Amino acid sequence: MAASFLCFWGLSLLLSLYFIPSTFASHVYIVYMGLNRIHDPLLTTKHHIGLLSYVFASEEEAKKSMLYSYKHSFSGFAAKLNTTQAATLANIQEVISVFKSKTLKLHTTRSWDFMGLTLDTDDHEVTPLQLAHGDDIIVGIFDTGIWPESPSFREEPCMGRVPKSWKGICVAGEEFDPATACNRKLIGARYYLTGFQEQLGHLNETENKEFKSPRGFRGHGTHTASTAVGSIVKNISFFGLAQGTARGGAPRARLAVYKVCWNNIYIDVFCSEADILKAFDDALHDGVHVISASFGASPPLRPFFNKSADIGSFHAMQKGVSVVFSAGNSGPDPSLVTNVAPWSICVAASSIDRTFPTHMLVDHKISVVGESLNDKEINAILVNSTVFFWRGICHPDLWRGTSALGMVILCFSIMGQVTRIDAEKAAWKANASGLIFAEPSTRQIPDVSIIPSVRIDINQGTKLRNYLSRLTRPGAIVQISAGTTAIKKSPGPTVAYFSSRGPSSLSPDILKPDLSAPGVNILAAWPNISTPTESTDDNRSVDWNLLSGTSMACPHVSGVVALIKSVHPDWSPAAIKSALMTTAYTRDSTHDSILAGGSMKLADPFDIGAGHINPLKAMDPGLVYDMKTRDYIIFLCNIGYTQDLIRKIVILYPGTDTSCPPLGHTTHTNLNYPSITVSDLQSTITIKRTVRNVGYKKTAFYFVSVVNPDGVDVVIWPRLLIFTFFRQEISYYITLKPHKKSQGRYDFGKIVWSDGFHYVRSPLIVRVNNAANYEAHTTI
Ligand SMILES: *[C@@H]1O[C@H](CO)[C@@H](O)[C@H](O)[C@H]1NC(C)=O
Ligand SMILES: *[C@@H]1O[C@H](CO)[C@@H](O)[C@H](O)[C@H]1NC(C)=O
Ligand SMILES: *[C@@H]1O[C@H](CO)[C@@H](O)[C@H](O)[C@H]1NC(C)=O
Ligand SMILES: *[C@@H]1O[C@H](CO)[C@@H](O)[C@H](O)[C@H]1NC(C)=O
Ligand SMILES: *[C@@H]1O[C@H](CO)[C@@H](O)[C@H](O)[C@H]1NC(C)=O
Ligand SMILES: *[C@@H]1O[C@H](CO)[C@@H](O)[C@H](O)[C@H]1NC(C)=O
Ligand SMILES: *[C@@H]1O[C@H](CO)[C@@H](O)[C@H](O)[C@H]1NC(C)=O
Ligand SMILES: *[C@@H]1O[C@H](CO)[C@@H](O)[C@H](O)[C@H]1NC(C)=O
Repeated sequence: MAASFLCFWGLSLLLSLYFIPSTFASHVYIVYMGLNRIHDPLLTTKHHIGLLSYVFASEEEAKKSMLYSYKHSFSGFAAKLNTTQAATLANIQEVISVFKSKTLKLHTTRSWDFMGLTLDTDDHEVTPLQLAHGDDIIVGIFDTGIWPESPSFREEPCMGRVPKSWKGICVAGEEFDPATACNRKLIGARYYLTGFQEQLGHLNETENKEFKSPRGFRGHGTHTASTAVGSIVKNISFFGLAQGTARGGAPRARLAVYKVCWNNIYIDVFCSEADILKAFDDALHDGVHVISASFGASPPLRPFFNKSADIGSFHAMQKGVSVVFSAGNSGPDPSLVTNVAPWSICVAASSIDRTFPTHMLVDHKISVVGESLNDKEINAILVNSTVFFWRGICHPDLWRGTSALGMVILCFSIMGQVTRIDAEKAAWKANASGLIFAEPSTRQIPDVSIIPSVRIDINQGTKLRNYLSRLTRPGAIVQISAGTTAIKKSPGPTVAYFSSRGPSSLSPDILKPDLSAPGVNILAAWPNISTPTESTDDNRSVDWNLLSGTSMACPHVSGVVALIKSVHPDWSPAAIKSALMTTAYTRDSTHDSILAGGSMKLADPFDIGAGHINPLKAMDPGLVYDMKTRDYIIFLCNIGYTQDLIRKIVILYPGTDTSCPPLGHTTHTNLNYPSITVSDLQSTITIKRTVRNVGYKKTAFYFVSVVNPDGVDVVIWPRLLIFTFFRQEISYYITLKPHKKSQGRYDFGKIVWSDGFHYVRSPLIVRVNNAANYEAHTTI
């Protein structure tokens, strides 16, 4: 027990000591070289070693320093280099970027952080569509590996043979025998440890359990895989809570696992960028159709082509493979969204309309309802935190040393700004029977914790605290019921307070996140070797666990992408994203506007993107905004790439115009993105968008309706689009004219095209930024 507390507090210090490489030491760098022009992997590697030999005394040394050669799906390598060597390689003409391989984090906070509930299985019957499709689609999960024995990864009845196109394999390793682990469901499994060990040291299994194989000790990857493509498993629950049927979004799709994230000695999970890029190289070659990755670099964000995830997903997009990322858990402050590349999908997390009411009765008279995932009733003495903690601040380091055996402690998040994890650890350390944690209602999410822990809001907490302070005897009698599961009793979805918000700090003219999906209290598969809190102090074993995070939202979208892909195999990743975004909804289950957790305000596009995912509508969006090679070329021009560099990255078809628009005309706004953002509107501009008729009728009439952002006139021309053949494309123009003076405030509107049946909705986000100019002119 002591060890894990120590670990938590020693973490930042230890890590900083650990990560300080002397300036002379070498570090793992990634050297990225764009498309692979040499179509033979052996020759490609030879070429890489040749390049690397320039900066080493011998070819032998060069070979020794190389971790990976990326040779199937794009070209580049990872190697241990010093800064001089890295700089030399960066100057070679073929090289596009050289950057340090960072370690990324998963987008659930650690085990002791958010833990919540389930897939919304009870609310939605499995549709015939889901049963009929998906066999032919392969979803690659980049995560902590897999627990293959989970019933989620059993073959569905009558599952057909593995698709012929599949070139991947199941790699054997520690406690992972492909003969028993892999089947027609789990068709591929690989692991990548070289970058991790180089950057974070060798796995030490006495310190911290891991398997040198695709098997995952940490449950995150098992959880996300079962959310995306898990087979149907009836009557499951977490100690009776959230009982129902577990299933992935595409329960018949195939699963390929790429283990890139590992448990390390600090009881945390890290993923090395060198390993991630290798997983992209292999997965694209293996033939996955969708990649789901619930991790990311934390802001400040590096340029797009200095990040493995952005490079890998760019090449995926060119091969028609959709890549879905989580937005990050850094909300609710603005601009901290991660995974913001325009060629991938970035997913925010929201709650579902399910809660876990937990009734409490104090001194047989005061009744309070909170939320918890407790599985037991508790009868104890309720005591305020001042008795156990210095200044009442519920933090393990501030414990006064008094035992709280047989007591429940009332803690406030606002006293000393403690997190629920601090408070849970503190109560655990004091040997309490439970914790009642009062925090603002905008942040409340019950979690699986090591100690029974009930969330209440500040109002109820205040009531209890004032009652306790009036007592002449210390403490009151408290009876806490086990948590219960309530469905449809509260509005959903609500954007989770932790979900990272836009605008994108790298390219504010591209709205991120793109959309939201369930990421609060998700019940999915879990390795029974790992405890539900992943704490060694916990002695429970479960096959299903409750987690929260944008990590959980991401595989919901991946599953839906697999379904769309199966129904529309010829749609590009951009068309699929468009279908998801333009059909997403912004009203909750009570037909009111969706709220943004972390505040009392309505969710805007920076919270929720285009809206909340609507899988069935996304199958038939009516129109799509596709993005073509030219769109990406314009984008690369915008971020400062020369024609020469662009030719090295982009697959060019005959006749593709690779020129950059004249300076001053380059703007992200003209990408054919399904949302429209103008982050710096100084004067009237006109934006072009092109839509394609993907409806089931060749003749279609679409009328536009517009909600203007505050202070901006919006003129759409034409206002009627007449389609006369299948797959016809028509362009329209949006003129934005500011009629206010502003120094830069975001305002929100929308553009909706409708044929009376489809509603193709794009958020319109404009920041008028003309006041500074105005001042300058008037003072002259
Ligand atoms: C980097 O490594 C090269 C080759 O081993 C060596 O010649 C050079 O001195 C090193 N530079 C620094 C700054 O350590
Ligand atoms: C990105 O890559 C370029 C080209 O190699 C390099 O010059 C630059 O320093 C890198 N930037 C960052 C932030 O890593
Ligand atoms: C965990 O799962 C494995 C594989 O299914 C099984 O053999 C083992 O008995 C299970 N252990 C527990 C504690 O349930
Ligand atoms: C693993 O950690 C233990 C305890 O810290 C240590 O005694 C042992 O030497 C380590 N083993 C390896 C292989 O590093
Ligand atoms: C579901 O499982 C629980 C125990 O986990 C059992 O008591 C209950 O009878 C099961 N219900 C059905 C419908 O099988
Ligand atoms: C907590 O309880 C355990 C078992 O009841 C006991 O061994 C331990 O000393 C207690 N710790 C404190 C700090 O009271
Ligand atoms: C907390 O409880 C102790 C003991 O019951 C009591 O003396 C004290 O006044 C309480 N403090 C507050 C702020 O309620
Ligand atoms: C787990 O720990 C709790 C107390 O922390 C104890 O009551 C229970 O018996 C333990 N269960 C097992 C299976 O060891």
